[in-house]
Amino acid sequence: MDKVDFIRKKMKECTLQDLPQGQRELLLAAEKAAMNSYSPYSGFKVGAALLASSGEMFTGTNVENAGYSPTICAERAAIVSACSSGVQDFQAIAVISPSSGDTVGSPCGVCRQVLSEFSKDGDITVILSNATKSRIIITSVAELLPLPFRL
Ligand code: THU
Repeated sequence: MDKVDFIRKKMKECTLQDLPQGQRELLLAAEKAAMNSYSPYSGFKVGAALLASSGEMFTGTNVENAGYSPTICAERAAIVSACSSGVQDFQAIAVISPSSGDTVGSPCGVCRQVLSEFSKDGDITVILSNATKSRIIITSVAELLPLPFRL
C-alpha cells in the first residue's frame, strides 16, 4: 500500500443511504448545481453546495474561460456566493464531479486553500461524491490541507 492509499483508507466512505439527511440534501443540491456548469472546454461539470452554520445553503459550479486560468472551480464559486450574502461560517461542503467510474473527485489545491481560510474557527466537513453517488467519501478541510498557509 503506498502512502496515498494509506491516507485514503483513513477517510470514511459511506453510501448515500448512510448519509445523514442534511448531508444528503447538501449532496443533491451540489448535483443540481452541476447542471448549471459552464464548462465548454473540459466538459467536466462540477457542483458544490455549502452548508452555513445558520443552516442556509449556497451552491456553486465551475465557470470556465477561453483564457483557462480565469476558470473558477465549483467550490470557490460556492464560497463567493455565500460571502456575497454576508455568510462566512460553514459546517460542511458537498462536491460532486464526473470523474470516471469509481474515482471520487476532490478539491484542487487552490480550493483547499480557500476553504481553509474559512475553517479557522472550526473544521469544515467535506462530502465528496462520484457522479453516480455510488462512492461517497467523508473528510474535512483540515484533513485535505494539513498545515495550511495562514497570516
Ligand atoms: N474543477 C472544479 O470545479 N473543482 C475542483 O475541485 C477541480 C476542478 C473544475 C475546473 C475545470 O472547470 C474543470 O473542473 C476541469 O478541471
